[in-house]
Amino acid sequence: MNNALVLGIESSCDETAVALVRADRTILAQRIASQNEAHERFGGVVPELAARAHADRLAPMVQAVLDEAGIGLAAVDAIAGTAGPGLIGGVMVGLVTAKALAMAAGKPLIAVNHLEGHALSPRLADAALHFPYLLLLVSGGHCQLLFVEGVGRYRRLATTIDDAVGEAFDKSAKLLGLGFPGGPALERAARTGNPARHALPRPLVGSDEQHFSFAGLKSAVLRARAAMAEPSAQDIADLAASFQQAACDCLVDRTARALARVPQATALVVAGGVAANQRIRGALSELAAAHGLPFVAPPLWLCTDNGAMIAWAGVERFLAGDVDDLHAPARPRWPLDPAAEAVRGAGVKA
Ligand code: KG4
Ligand code: ZN
Repeated sequence: MNNALVLGIESSCDETAVALVRADRTILAQRIASQNEAHERFGGVVPELAARAHADRLAPMVQAVLDEAGIGLAAVDAIAGTAGPGLIGGVMVGLVTAKALAMAAGKPLIAVNHLEGHALSPRLADAALHFPYLLLLVSGGHCQLLFVEGVGRYRRLATTIDDAVGEAFDKSAKLLGLGFPGGPALERAARTGNPARHALPRPLVGSDEQHFSFAGLKSAVLRARAAMAEPSAQDIADLAASFQQAACDCLVDRTARALARVPQATALVVAGGVAANQRIRGALSELAAAHGLPFVAPPLWLCTDNGAMIAWAGVERFLAGDVDDLHAPARPRWPLDPAAEAVRGAGVKA
């Protein structure tokens, strides 16, 4: 079934996205609509607004993608929809749409874990990426190191004990008045900043602990900002750059630790929204080179939420014969590795 064709739907946060992806890695058509204008004035994603926007946009978007590809639902082999984890209102809109399409077209449903979408997305971009690989999954809600052994086989080696790294970027950007969405805004500001200006903490770096922590770094940004009465643009850029460097050092240190635990890994891979950050990509690429491993990072558009990664996870699951029935639940939390131990202090993170 090298030409298996899957329609993928993503709606777990503030991107409404649909894509048609074939097993030979061709993206026949795709659409991504972000909701930045709707959430901007609140400084963060408002779940209710997000769910309503998905409900408004999703069906016409599915139609537009099918039209662009010049096919009907009958030509599709399966319908994949994000079933969690994420903001539950949006997840329900996407999953119910996927179920309705699957039922109407008589095609199998694939209820995709959003994190699995990120975890497999590098294989959509790079046909040479084979299992097993070490994946650093860094997004707004998650910061994990996963040993990816195959489709559906994810061993969690580390997670965050407090904030996700994307959350730390977003909150720091807000503290610095850099706008929304925070990650890209902070990276832009950091370009002209001096990363050595502030000696910010690097939580857990060098420790035997395997996990991540970013809460202390975020608080240090808050204190440094509070210590400046009327910061200039350069002051803000310096603090942004200092934060970015500290976060980057944390990611590299923890990833190096995990690499030592999985000598069988054939590549170091990064995915998720924060993987769009150039500084972080550069540092991880150096780490991989130092270990004699290839470094794989998807193109920027494939790092942040999109429909193609869900369609691609659907392709991989379909080819593995792993499909769902119409009972598949919408799940606000859904760990990729159900066997992973709960982490002390890890709060609500999946
Ligand atoms: O994967 P994603 O699009 O959505 C989630 O599943 O969370 O990730 C969004 C996160 C946000 O926290 C955003 O600020 C961050 O990724 N992000 C970045 C960059 N682009 C997006 N963080 C740092 N640098 C960037 N260039
Ligand atoms: Zn995501």
